[in-house]
Amino acid sequence: MELNRDISILALQTFQKQEDRNINICDLFGGSGIRGVRYKNEIDGVGHVFINDISETANEYERHNVELNNLKDIEIFQHDASMFLRMHRGEFDVIDIDPFGTPSPFLDSAGYCSRRNSLLCVTATDTSALCGTYKEPCIRKYNAKPYKSEYCHETGIRILAGFVALTLAKYSKSIEVKLSHSTEHYMRLYIEVKKRFQKKSDECLKNIGYISHCKHCLYREENKGLATSTPNICPECGEKLIQAGPLWLGEIQNEEFISKMIVESENKN
Ligand SMILES: C[S@@+](CC[C@H](N)C(=O)[O-])C[C@H]1O[C@@H](n2cnc3c(N)ncnc32)[C@H](O)[C@@H]1O
Repeated sequence: MELNRDISILALQTFQKQEDRNINICDLFGGSGIRGVRYKNEIDGVGHVFINDISETANEYERHNVELNNLKDIEIFQHDASMFLRMHRGEFDVIDIDPFGTPSPFLDSAGYCSRRNSLLCVTATDTSALCGTYKEPCIRKYNAKPYKSEYCHETGIRILAGFVALTLAKYSKSIEVKLSHSTEHYMRLYIEVKKRFQKKSDECLKNIGYISHCKHCLYREENKGLATSTPNICPECGEKLIQAGPLWLGEIQNEEFISKMIVESENKN
């Protein structure tokens, strides 16, 4: 996961410079604590780092690693992730969700507790569900139908982003996806959470829709809207079309944000 953390550092540094203030970071699933420790050590303009993990053993490693690095303004907690977020509602500029498997059960608390103009980082390792190897778990966890095509990793990222957008919309929040990647066994999203405003979240949800795919001639089309109609028959070859979604049909990479990350990577080398 070293690459994952390297990319995270560039994304958080870019976000910190964009906001031009000290940022408080929540490493919600701390594990060994390496993520929180690296955030504190390697990013400029970091205020307080909160490392949380439900496991006592993980907490011991976290304490050891924080002491080893002689760090201040970094605290360790032992709570269930959702409980922890709700105990600290609105306190974090960055919430990093890096669980085993699906982030789905924690996104409601993240949606409720995230503050405006904050960054939400989300990892999912249940790629077999998101990519459509197993359809039912994807429907269960993300309320979306996946489809295993040659671009199933992108579809998986879009299902995850769509689920985040729909979950946050419950709390009148809207999202902008700054960066996403599918690497080895996981997918990762960097999402900016915008302020509470019902009209904005309604606008944001216009990016949700469906993909219709023809496995015979590879024709595909997208249709935006949750209650939209989707075509059944391929207009090119007349075969039956397969649908995937609901998923995010908006931007999944932000060129300006990523260009700034590249500058950061040159600065840090
Ligand atoms: C994938 S590991 C975290 C890896 C770490 N973020 C890193 O970059 O190395 C997931 C961690 O989540 C913790 N965990 C599992 N369920 C949890 C829950 N409900 N609340 C808080 N922590 C939980 C586990 O104890 C484990 O240490």
